[in-house]
Parts: sequence; C-alpha cells; structure tokens
Amino acid sequence: MKRIIFLFVLLGINFIAGQQGNSLNLIPIPRKVSYLPQDFTLNSSFTITVEGRATGKLCAYISRVLRRLDGRTGLFFSQDFITPGTLPETASMMIQVSREGKVALDEDESYTLTVKPDGIHLTSETDIGAMRGLETFLQLLQTKDGHYIIKGVSIEDKPRFPWRGLLIDAGRHFMPVEVIKRNLDGMAAVKLNVLHWHLSEDQGFRVECHTFPKLHELGSDGLYYTQAQIRDIIRYAANRGIRVLPEFDIPGHTTSWLVGYPELASSPGPYQIERKFGIMDPAFNPALSLTYEFFDLFFKEMCALFPDEYMHIGGDENNGKQWDANPDIQAFMKQNKIKDNHALQTYFNNRILAILTKYDKKMVGWDEILQPGMPKNIVIQSWRGRKSMVRAAREGYRTILSNGYYIDLIQPAAYHYMNDPLPSDIDLDPDQKKMVLGGEATMWSEFVNSETVDSRIWPRTAAIAERLWSAGEIKDVQDMYRRLEVVSFQLEELGLQHEKNYTMLLRRLVNNRDIKPLKTLVDVLEPVKNYDRLGQRAYTSYSPLTRVVDAARPDAKVARHFREQVDDYLAGNIQLADVLDTQLKQWRVNHNNLKKIIENSPILKEIESLSQDMSMAAEAGLTALRYLRNKNTPDTDWIEEQKNFLKRAKAPRGQTELMILPAIEKLVQKCAEAG
Ligand code: ACM
Repeated sequence: MKRIIFLFVLLGINFIAGQQGNSLNLIPIPRKVSYLPQDFTLNSSFTITVEGRATGKLCAYISRVLRRLDGRTGLFFSQDFITPGTLPETASMMIQVSREGKVALDEDESYTLTVKPDGIHLTSETDIGAMRGLETFLQLLQTKDGHYIIKGVSIEDKPRFPWRGLLIDAGRHFMPVEVIKRNLDGMAAVKLNVLHWHLSEDQGFRVECHTFPKLHELGSDGLYYTQAQIRDIIRYAANRGIRVLPEFDIPGHTTSWLVGYPELASSPGPYQIERKFGIMDPAFNPALSLTYEFFDLFFKEMCALFPDEYMHIGGDENNGKQWDANPDIQAFMKQNKIKDNHALQTYFNNRILAILTKYDKKMVGWDEILQPGMPKNIVIQSWRGRKSMVRAAREGYRTILSNGYYIDLIQPAAYHYMNDPLPSDIDLDPDQKKMVLGGEATMWSEFVNSETVDSRIWPRTAAIAERLWSAGEIKDVQDMYRRLEVVSFQLEELGLQHEKNYTMLLRRLVNNRDIKPLKTLVDVLEPVKNYDRLGQRAYTSYSPLTRVVDAARPDAKVARHFREQVDDYLAGNIQLADVLDTQLKQWRVNHNNLKKIIENSPILKEIESLSQDMSMAAEAGLTALRYLRNKNTPDTDWIEEQKNFLKRAKAPRGQTELMILPAIEKLVQKCAEAG
C-alpha cells in the first residue's frame, strides 16, 4: 500500500479529504489532504519557530501546543515557554504568518501544513489560521514502529462557514469561569470560532453592571461574572481566535432583571428570580420611554465591555401576556397604530437597534425578530425550524442556523452531523447562500451544571464543528463516530470533564462502593430526548443534577456499538454471535449485582425496574440468539411475550431510556421471520 501511495504522490495524484483523508483522526476533516510517503519522527529536540508576524498570542498558543504534545508523548522537549523574543532561528516546525488576525467575522483562518521527514511547515495569512493549523498538527500525532510520528501529509485548509459557534447558557445555571475557559479550549481544538454567551435569563442575570447594580445584586443569587472576569474570558477567547458574542435576552426571558427594576416591567411587581423553567410572562414595557433610557445606558456599558462587533438581543418566546393585560400598553399601540404584539416587538427591536447602532454594534436575534419592518443589517439566528434561515436568506438577511444543533435535546451526534446549513438541494440562489454565515450548537442549561455540562457539549459538538468547517460532501457517519471517540479522549487534556465526571457521578450514586454494576447499566442508558425531562418531573434551577439521568450521556457508546453489532450479525456476519452472547450474558447477570447496591443507595431506586428490564431483555436476546444459531423457530407465544415485554421496557424510568432495546427487538423479530 505504501508503495502505491508513493506512486500516486509521484504522479501528483492527491487523495482528497472524504476518501483516504478519513483514515486519519482529523476532525474537522480539512479541505484537501494529500498523504506523503514519509513521516516526521518526534524526539526531545523537537522545536517550533515563527517567521513573519509572531504575535504574543500565537507564541503562547505554540507553547501550549508544545506542552500538550509533550504531555502525550512524554518526550521532555527542550524548548520551553516561548515568547516573540525567544524564538529560535531554525526549528523542526516552521510557522510562517503574514499578519495578526482580527478576532472578527470573516477573518482569514486558512492555512497550509506540510509534514515531511526533515521538517514541518505551517503557513497562514493570519495568526488565527496558524492556530487552526496547529490543532490539525496535533491531531496528526501517531505511533509507528514504537515511535511517535507526525503523519506525512500536505494539507490545504480553510473553513466552509465563517460563523461556527457554541452557545453556553449561563443564565439558567451559572457556569463558572473555569467551565467557560475549558470549553473555549475545546472549541479551539475543533476550530469553532464563536462563543455565544447567553448571559441573562428569567433564572439569573449574570453580569456585573455598574450603571444598574441591582441587576446582578438582586437578579443573580450572587452568581455572576465580575467585569474583570468577563474581560479575562474575552482575552482568553481572543487568544484562541474565538469571538465572544454576548446575549442579553429581551424583552421576554427577563424576570431576573425586573427583580431590581420592577418599574420597567409590563405588570407591576414585585418580582422574584424565577426558579422554574419554561416560557414566563414577565417582559419589559415597550411603551415607556424609561425603558429605552434604561437600555441606552445599559448597552452603553455592555457595548464597551464586549468588543465583538455583534450584540445578541435574544427576542425569543415573548408570550405577550403582560402586554395584552396592560391598558397603557394597549393605548400606546392604538396611538402608534401598532397592530399586534409582533409589531410591538418590532417597534421595541427597532428602538434597541438604534441604541446598538449608536454604540457601533450590529444586532443579532432569534428568529422571532424576523418581522416586517426590521432593517436588513441584522443577523437572524434560526432555531424554530430551518425555514426561518431560508426565509431570512431570501429576504436579504444574514443568518445562522441553530435548528438541528440543539445539543441540550440529547440527540445523537449523527443527527446533528447530517444537519447541513446548506445541503446541495437547498432552494437558494448563490447570493442567497452567501447570507448563510454558519451555525451554532446551543447548550441550554435547564438540566446541566458545571459538573455535567461538558458531557452534553462533548464530544458531539466536534461533529457539529466538522459540519460547519468541512466540505458538505464529508458525511460518513461511521467514520465521524470513529474520529469522535479519538477527539473525545484528546479533549480531556484540556481539562474537559465529559469523561472523568462520568465515573465520579457513578461513584457518588453508589455511595463509594463498586461502580461496575451501575456502570454496566448506565453505559447503555440515555437521558430522555427533547424536553421530555421537564414533563416527567417538576424541576427548578436548584433541583439536584446528581442522579442517574445526569450521569447518563447522550449517544451512549456501548449501546450504539451493540446496535451496530446486531445489525452486522443480522446482515450475515455470524462470527459476531459470540461477541453478542458474551455481552448479553454480562447484562443478564447485572441486575443481581446492582440490586444489592440499590438497597443501600435509595437515590438509585428510580432505575431499579429498568435494571431488571435490562437483564430480562438480555435474556430475551440470548434466547433469540440461540434460536437463530440453532436455526430453530420459537413458538409464537414466546415471540408475542417478548415483543410485549420489550415494548413495555421502553418506558423511561428516572428520565432515562434503555438504548439496547431496538437491537434486542431486531433479534426477536428475526426469529419470528425465520419461523
Ligand atoms: C430558544 O431556544 N428559545 C432560542
């Protein structure tokens, strides 16, 4: 094979990404990857230098890359922390950068990377492009013949979309500084470039505000970011080529603001910080000039604090109930010929837009703000359906897609991965397509806190990052999952806790006894999807997030592998029968072991019957497997009984679902068909 590749290289034939490019562990897959016949071997004398514009932030980035690489390999590199003044003249890896990049929309993030035995070359227009290339470089680390090597390649890369974001909701559950920072590191690792920071909600106002201090003093339970912390995070993000887009969601979702400033509400107060989740009635009063005086001063302060040229004003889910009930607002509407609440919100938005424009900001809002009468210089974030993205693009608005990227809904990575902002059959002309800037994953925080949030963001967000960076033709789901498992464990080196907190949470649940039986169960559980969790139990912002449902993770890997193996087996790969048999036997005995633990951990009671169902489902699977192997046919009563049981077992318990059931159903169904 090596010789064939060599021949192709000699002939100048490139392997393009999406074919052989996939066999590397790169995520997102670069635009163009060519294999070179020989690799670069790492040893302790490995060094990196920069030619051209060696910015302080690039040098710091390189130092971190060196430490990560050294951490993975244990080679004890001689090069220490580098600064623009300490760069060597020659080095194993030469980075050439033309200029400092602006941390702004549409900045050049392209790079080329060539790895040969005698050296590595990374070239980019901006230092941000070099950062993107450095992450690719790190993903090329492999082992060969007992050594660490960097795979020989030639890569040309640039993003498909300029706006590739992750929203973190710090409103419903406060997310401490270290949570934001480690997630910024994760974002940089997969080339995301916008942190959309959702900073205010009914449940909390999270920013220190000097002009209106009652916002954070009375609206946050003491859980807010000081302005020094905000500046620190913005700097941290900028040092990774990531924009910080603040969101102050108005006029609805604003209970926490109105605790301190009830005179701005559409109904008289008093107000208390909201503890429940959902769509609440409180909204700013759009008919008061005091409201706009407030927002003028508020945004004056916030626009100075946040340097990005965009400001997100939310605009979603204002139910208008307080507006309907307020006679002054009704009179105001009549007087100003404002026909309904949509038009009233558009009036409000236009007043806010004028304020933002005064402070040199461009406005972003959720798709509710796409109403007749809004000027074209705003950006529409599509969440209720991709229709609003298409409509916005057709009507000449720039737009970003979040519909399909709601990672709080616990859908599998594959679901998000196949959600292309611009699929080939989309009905938009080339100019309209240019209005689609990209997309954002959204980490809403009803059901996450600082311990669990990483496990909802990662690794699935890496799949979304690939969708937004890589070519649309890259859509091999199996290969995405293969690479996702690699990047998932690499992300841990950045302090992300999606893997390690899993066993920590399990340990807590078993009261520090053996976690194995619980892990065996939870490995194949997933939290219920969509917002079902809210309907199944009364949650507040202070409810515990320490139960099995919180330890269970989206896209349960063990269950997914089992389902794949059953599919393979039923497709004719009969050698898998032994593997399935072993797995099912482990599950069959599990309940016996877990039962004893549950007795002493009442917190686990809610999943006891689920545990029993897993063992019974495993028994059904084993019996079905035996019939299939022996080419015998079970009687119809048995089949009916199993089908009914498996159907019942699908009922969630403790807001979790057993993800092996569809595969067991297939085994039983196959027996029935064989009959
Ligand atoms: C939203 O999810 N309410 C924007």
